[in-house]
Amino acid sequence: MRGRPRPGSRQGQRQPAKGPAREIELVIDKLGSEGVGVARLDGRPVLVPGSLPGEQVRVRVMGGAADLLDVIAPSPSRIEPACRHFGTCGGCALQHLAWQPYLDFKRDLVVDALRRQGLADVPVEAVAPSPPESRRRATLEAKRTSGGVLLGFHARASHQIVDLGECPVLLPDLARLLPSLRTLLATLLLPGGSATVLLGQGPGGIDLGLALAAAPDLEQLERLTAFADAQDLARLWWRVGDMAPVPAAQRRPLGHRFGDVPVEPPAGGFLQATADGEAALTAEVVAALAGAERVADLFAGCGTFGLALGARALLHAVEGDAAALGALTAAARRAGLGFVSTERRDLDARPLLAAELRRFDAVLFDPPRAGAKAQVEQLAKSTVPRVIGVSCNPATFARDARILVDGGYHLERVLPVDQFVWSPHVELVGRFRRT
Ligand SMILES: C[S@@+](CC[C@H](N)C(=O)[O-])C[C@H]1O[C@@H](n2cnc3c(N)ncnc32)[C@H](O)[C@@H]1O
Repeated sequence: MRGRPRPGSRQGQRQPAKGPAREIELVIDKLGSEGVGVARLDGRPVLVPGSLPGEQVRVRVMGGAADLLDVIAPSPSRIEPACRHFGTCGGCALQHLAWQPYLDFKRDLVVDALRRQGLADVPVEAVAPSPPESRRRATLEAKRTSGGVLLGFHARASHQIVDLGECPVLLPDLARLLPSLRTLLATLLLPGGSATVLLGQGPGGIDLGLALAAAPDLEQLERLTAFADAQDLARLWWRVGDMAPVPAAQRRPLGHRFGDVPVEPPAGGFLQATADGEAALTAEVVAALAGAERVADLFAGCGTFGLALGARALLHAVEGDAAALGALTAAARRAGLGFVSTERRDLDARPLLAAELRRFDAVLFDPPRAGAKAQVEQLAKSTVPRVIGVSCNPATFARDARILVDGGYHLERVLPVDQFVWSPHVELVGRFRRT
């Protein structure tokens, strides 16, 4: 059986050729960390998007990259992609891989990152998956062209926008909104103008944010309000550049709850990407914190994990973003959680020092992709018995884990969690105990 790549896929997105292009056959060795097949040619790696390990392929090679022309001997794990945009859209890399090998690939990303830091013996659990059609948070790009508004993710390795006619990653309500959103954007954008669209969905409905080049005029503002009513959105807001988000419609709460605590996240604020992912991460964090009485939640956001502890522990939540911390503080106050204290602090510039950490019997950290090096260096010097790390980047997590292990912690187990279905991203929770 021969598999033909989709027409147009990956064409025109390669780096400039180094030397003349040539057509050859290769056998794919492995999937690289970006979910792209890697073969070797003349002792050098060649990246072949759309290929799978073990496959014999015909490619057009240009420098270190190649266009897949034909799959001569397909992998038994090759399946039909779920979406017509697969191969062009940069949102997904792995729809052509069967589910179990796909989950194994994600687990291997975590295992490999730990191994590179000399932590090969750490038990890594099976991945906690999120199904297709479960993403409740996504950032799309929009551009008004002479042919209409393009709305979607960037094409792979390109700034071109793939105009999405479907998206099996998003929650169905979000995917269904796209056609009417295109019509709205046609009235907001100047010819050639661009915007970023921040989609979110909670139990209470859709949260739509528009990052625009210029503030809407009065007529456009009325259109935004009418759109929120017509589409029954929970919330619609806009912003220009770095300015604070401006509400255009606040029709009802988004309805998020962390544990039993209702929380209204700020416009544009961080939330875990799927409800399944949040549930898996939270269950692991809450289990790891069982019995702890004084807990620090560092990089707390609006309280996903800390508030889920409810009355189980005295909580000190530390976060750099004022709006997120405001939402957490307001939620704790409304719920009568008088034992929750909050602190706004830049944990890279001013981490909690080892002496300040002494009062906690467990510390949770959940930093952005860059990791928590400065904070972890203080934890490594501390006496805190239990540390739990949540991460969206196995490489920086493994680096931080190495610091903790060198400081006398044992990394007991790691749970990988998949929230970005068919992408090469994976999240995780790691449990450390002072030895
Ligand atoms: C991955 S999010 C996690 C948020 C929260 N734990 C959750 O699960 O919803 C990382 C959080 O770290 C915050 N943050 C980023 N850099 C920071 C810094 N230098 N100091 C403190 N907080 C920071 C962000 O505002 C964001 O809320």
